[in-house]
Amino acid sequence: MTFVSPSVLACDFSHLADEVLKMEAAGADYLHLDVMDGHFVPNISFGPGVISSIRKVSRLLFDVHLMISDPGKYLDSFIRAGADIITIHAESNGDIGEMIDYIKEHDVRVGLAISPGTSYDVVMPYLDKLDMVLVMTVEPGFGGQKMIPETLDKCRVLRREITKRGLTTNIEVDGGINADNVWLCSSNGANVIVAGSAIFGSNKPRAVISKMKSECELHPFAG
Ligand code: DX5
Ligand code: ZN
Repeated sequence: MTFVSPSVLACDFSHLADEVLKMEAAGADYLHLDVMDGHFVPNISFGPGVISSIRKVSRLLFDVHLMISDPGKYLDSFIRAGADIITIHAESNGDIGEMIDYIKEHDVRVGLAISPGTSYDVVMPYLDKLDMVLVMTVEPGFGGQKMIPETLDKCRVLRREITKRGLTTNIEVDGGINADNVWLCSSNGANVIVAGSAIFGSNKPRAVISKMKSECELHPFAG
């Protein structure tokens, strides 16, 4: 099953609620919320206040991607803001295992993200506890970049390991994905597709989302 998660980073923030509702109407499964602190990545986006505001207007699954140096300090705020999935980066500060446990104890799904330069090895000790692994397909920090296809090799290794362990963990990919290259993601084992500019930049978001899903169904994991 493929899930599409539009990234609001690419939306028109002067009409935030409308943009979110538009994604709901267009058939989005999740809503990807990129939190950036200007320290972990060289860009600043938004925080829990914005997320709790849009929580009031949307029932989509809130997929919160924390690109912040000290996620442990802010987990409570994002839980309170209404996150359904919280993804922390393996490269961030703090005890990764403790943060994973903390998120799960609060009945929020948990994801672990790896940047392009980080090996899948760092995910392996935590895999059994994770709901999702996020394999970054660009350097985190900005929307509108070009996908780095080599990062998809990691999805293949992770998908094989997930199957081997009998898990149902999702593999999310994020960065530079569009309806023309999404098949590379599904055929390498990813099943949650983040796309910002490809969806918000189109005047037919419903068509883009549905093409992405059908491309993924046409190109399942090739092993
Ligand atoms: C990058 C973010 C992505 C980004 C994706 O750091 O994590 O979610 O918004 O945007 P596109 O699809 O435009 O690459
Ligand atoms: Zn993201």
